[in-house]
Amino acid sequence: MKIRLVGISSSPKKRSTYKLVEIALEAAKDAVLKEKSDAEVITEIVSFKGKKIRGCIDCGACLKRAGCILKDDWYECIKYLINPVPDGVIIGSPVYFYSVNAQLRAFFERCRSLNKKDWFEKYPDQIPDWTKTAAGAVTTGYHRNGGQEHAAASIINWFLLDGFVSVGSYALKNAYIESPRGYTAGTAVADQTSVDPPILADECGIEVVKTLGTRIGETALRLHLGDAILNKDK
Ligand SMILES: Cc1cc2nc3c(=O)[nH]c(=O)nc-3n(C[C@H](O)[C@H](O)[C@H](O)COP(=O)(O)O)c2cc1C
Repeated sequence: MKIRLVGISSSPKKRSTYKLVEIALEAAKDAVLKEKSDAEVITEIVSFKGKKIRGCIDCGACLKRAGCILKDDWYECIKYLINPVPDGVIIGSPVYFYSVNAQLRAFFERCRSLNKKDWFEKYPDQIPDWTKTAAGAVTTGYHRNGGQEHAAASIINWFLLDGFVSVGSYALKNAYIESPRGYTAGTAVADQTSVDPPILADECGIEVVKTLGTRIGETALRLHLGDAILNKDK
């Protein structure tokens, strides 16, 4: 059995956000292997570092012809989520002005070209079915209350409106005050400039990110196995 987990880091750097995505993916992989030690778990991370992704310009071309006509790196990034569709996804963003950064917003906007009903039949990919993909958000900001949860909500809303199975960082094991408590995402503070990457100083944040990753791994596995049972006679 093969489980594929994809991480996306929308930061223009390979620094704190990238590290959080890496940590969450590692925890997700461990969670799968804990329950199914013979599973083959593949993890891949897409970094927006050096990538150019423009926002949608509402030209309408994708309604009439092959997908998005804008020429940049969007397809290079989105292809990890569509060809094939992964079992689990972690999307991470640095907080920019209390929300996700512009690159991630642009990435989301361009996905409009993927799901129009009058789809151009020669487009190389099928409309992605993300309804069996477990998805979680991680965010990092410089300040403790800098907008991490607001940025995460933006990512989670994209998961919900494009059909993903949105997973948060709540887990029974850390529902009590003794250990870091998870809520809707994995959020952390990167204010320690003496540490590289700065996010590693936030032990509490890292714990919550690991919990999110664990839940992504567990949910991805269940969705994969459930789908295999439901489709075995088809
Ligand atoms: C344009 C810009 C806007 C930012 N806005 C916020 C903000 O609103 N809240 C906050 O806590 N940090 C803010 N930051 C700080 C980054 O979120 C923080 O440095 C983050 O850890 C960067 O992640 P990275 O190392 O993965 O790029 C901002 C940084 C930039 C460059």
